[in-house]
Amino acid sequence: MSKITTMQTVLQLVRGIRDPWQKLLQRGYRQLTTKLIATIVLAVICGGLIGSPSAIAAEFAIAPDADLVNGAAVFEATCAGCHVNGGNILRRGKNLKARALARNQADSLEAISAIVMNGQGIMSAYGDRLSADEIRDVASYVLDRANSDWK
Ligand code: HEC
Repeated sequence: MSKITTMQTVLQLVRGIRDPWQKLLQRGYRQLTTKLIATIVLAVICGGLIGSPSAIAAEFAIAPDADLVNGAAVFEATCAGCHVNGGNILRRGKNLKARALARNQADSLEAISAIVMNGQGIMSAYGDRLSADEIRDVASYVLDRANSDWK
């Protein structure tokens, strides 16, 4: 074997090892770049949503298994007398709108369920009149309506 053919063989060998690695690396980078771009686009979209006026409204979480139709029925029958349209005819500041709920720490399923169960101040307790499901439904209904400002 001449010197040149030996060199060529060595070069071919080196290339045979290097090229597949480069292809793998390039593919990896490409995937990484795609993921990165997707993440940035998503972040920008989310940021836009959070910043936009329509998304400023509260986003209280409701029970995933809540029956809001039943919640509305319970509300009409039991709560609307004092809380019509999310207000409070007895204590105006303790209404069911997002701002008041947050201010009075009544802005979660747990908090509202507890108020309905045990009563609070001059509001009576409903723990012996409503079932656990009804309380879950009506508390979820209150949060759901507060999310859209009772409109
Ligand atoms: C007889 C009138 C009356 C009825 C009926 C009534 N509430 Fe109330 N509710 C009140 C009053 C008064 C308060 C303020 C209690 C206090 O002094 O903290 C209140 C407070 C609340 C609060 C806390 C609001 C806040 O901003 O702090 C929630 C939540 C609530 N009621 C939900 C309900 C639900 C749900 C029902 C029906 C199951 C119901 N209420 C029925 C009178 C009533």
